[in-house]
Amino acid sequence: MNILVLGSGAREHVITWKLAQNKSAQLYNFGPTSNPGIAELVKEVELGDVTDVAAVVDWAKQKKIDVVWVGPEAPLAVGIVDALEGMGVSCIGPTQKLAELESSKSFTRNLVEKYNINASPIFRTFTSDIEIEDFIKSLDGNVVIKPDGLTGGKGVKVMGDHFQTADEALQYCKDLFAAGDMKVLVEEKLIGQEFSLMSFTDGKHIVHMPVVQDHKRAYVNDEGPNTGGMGSYTDADHSLPFLNNNDVKQAEQINEAVLEALEQEFEQAYIGILYGGFIAVHDGVRLIEYNVRFGDPEVMNLLSLLETDLIRITDAMVNGTLNTLKVEFSRRASVCKYLVPDGYPVDPIKDQPIDVSVVDTNKVNLFFGSVDQKDGELIEKGSRTVAVVGIADTLREAEQKVETEIKKITGPLFHREDIGTNELIQKRIESMNELRHEQ
Ligand code: AMP
Ligand code: GLY
Repeated sequence: MNILVLGSGAREHVITWKLAQNKSAQLYNFGPTSNPGIAELVKEVELGDVTDVAAVVDWAKQKKIDVVWVGPEAPLAVGIVDALEGMGVSCIGPTQKLAELESSKSFTRNLVEKYNINASPIFRTFTSDIEIEDFIKSLDGNVVIKPDGLTGGKGVKVMGDHFQTADEALQYCKDLFAAGDMKVLVEEKLIGQEFSLMSFTDGKHIVHMPVVQDHKRAYVNDEGPNTGGMGSYTDADHSLPFLNNNDVKQAEQINEAVLEALEQEFEQAYIGILYGGFIAVHDGVRLIEYNVRFGDPEVMNLLSLLETDLIRITDAMVNGTLNTLKVEFSRRASVCKYLVPDGYPVDPIKDQPIDVSVVDTNKVNLFFGSVDQKDGELIEKGSRTVAVVGIADTLREAEQKVETEIKKITGPLFHREDIGTNELIQKRIESMNELRHEQ
């Protein structure tokens, strides 16, 4: 089997690494940069824009690719899967229509509402600023404002974080319409702890992975600007220390119900990763958003723990036989931390050499993100650079493994030392306990 992994980041590095554990497949990579971690695992790397549908299709045909694993969301949103499937190439990733689950927030909220899935906060979609003011006031100004399209989370503004008054919220909505946004969502702001639940699916059958918590803020104690995610952890029981069993079940049921709703509504099989972004609140779980691909960094925890052959899972997803496969994840804890350039994410230092050679890769997994090679040296390219993953029986041990090894990496980089520590996790548990008891 010939498999093409689309994308050049750490997410695609870990997908390729996991696929490469089964030597029966021939692996290829297409993406904007040559990731040194991916390059040593594949037969060939082709440089190109992952949203250039014609270029991807051409190269896939040339290399007689059987299956394409689509890493990032952007090619899914422009219909890469429709084009590849049209040429007889199977894909891990949904069609353009179903990818709207991520590329349009109103698509998702409307679907969930239509199929009576009890998961959303109070929300309304607006196509002009008429009546927005009244709606914001009806929620006491306690709102989140979201432009409808793919914004990488960056266009989302939250009361208390990005604005402080109902008037400022209203002004932001007006600014979005003035800038050309056609639809704006106004949602009730939810208070709680966010977590991710990703599921493999072949469109009919669904296999849930362990729940993961990402850390979006750049600095320790969840301070500083939002990032793509600075690190993540999973626990040995496949739950998270601040969740109860019902929370995990509820999130699983929401993923299952959404998959069914997609099938009923569009009569297309959703093949790939269904990624629910949830928030545990005082009385259960609510849906924040869906993504239609693996989370980064969460994927590095999950695939490091995955015990089942990813090629067999790939095969089962494209053939609709996921129900016949036992998919297993190791019952151990995992911690993943990203090293990022000084100044990230606002004004990152770029093109500086880094050295990872002293890391003991028998003790941790190492995945490359935004890096390049120049004259035999590894160079950071200004975004999330290297991820280090530790696996152990307890979170504490996994976290310490990561810290021991990540500190050996040299270059103008920093990471969040608090991710996965007892202290931070205890804070999450206490804040959830307070929320549950306040009610
Ligand atoms: P999104 O792009 O929808 O994931 O939103 C980006 C971030 O905004 C999320 O990860 C949350 O931290 C926050 N957010 C989005 N919607 C809500 C909500 N209804 N209540 C509280 N926070 C939210
Ligand atoms: N970890 C957040 C994301 O992949 O969207």
